[in-house]
Amino acid sequence: MGKMERLDKLLALHLAESRKEVSSMVRRGLVLVNGVPAKKADEKVDPELDSVSVEGRELTLRKNLYIMMNKPSGVLSATRDPRAKTVVDLLPSQWKRRGMFPAGRLDKDTRGLLILTDDGDFAHRMLAPKSHVWKLYEAELDGPVGDLEREKFREGISIGDVVCLPAELFLPEDGPSSLVRVQIREGKFHQVKRMFQAVGREVTALKRIRIGMLSLDASLQPGECRLMTEDEKQAVFAKEDGTL
Ligand code: URA
Repeated sequence: MGKMERLDKLLALHLAESRKEVSSMVRRGLVLVNGVPAKKADEKVDPELDSVSVEGRELTLRKNLYIMMNKPSGVLSATRDPRAKTVVDLLPSQWKRRGMFPAGRLDKDTRGLLILTDDGDFAHRMLAPKSHVWKLYEAELDGPVGDLEREKFREGISIGDVVCLPAELFLPEDGPSSLVRVQIREGKFHQVKRMFQAVGREVTALKRIRIGMLSLDASLQPGECRLMTEDEKQAVFAKEDGTL
């Protein structure tokens, strides 16, 4: 819960009107708090949680939220679903407010780092192909991959009728392995799984561990989440050359 504020003070600030004018609007029933006409100009509202609208137009009173989640397997990267549990359903009630959505999707069976926010600009910037934000995954495969696959990923592998941007495959001590890390900078549908399929391998488990320079907080248990710091928000867009 945020700090409670007087409605007339907030309205005066956001509408650049005098308190007198604002009081008159309240009296005329033009101001709704959570959909109900406000009774008094000096009633208290929570800018972080309450919705305030004037003549049908909602005011942006609250600050945006940025949440890091360790997504568990079996949960949909969506806001709402009639049958399945979603990542928004997992949010603690104080952050489960209108407009929260996952910035980018992980498959239902993929685990790991997911950002939830109500800041559409942030999400757009993070996901736009031209931003080239690298995403790092840990993949378990049904058999080993090695130098040959690393070269193919570097060249840009074809999945279906599209060619992926060059991606980086990290092998433990450069030997072939069925537990690898792979870094991509786009987010095509089932991309990592399809990239490995294109070299004859199935992904048996997938976990995202980093977005840009933001690493998953190892202390977050599956299904847990916490607010991101300012530095962590910046880290998503930090420049780096694509190497670990
Ligand atoms: N690539 C996939 O195949 N699945 C994910 O969830 C993310 C990337």
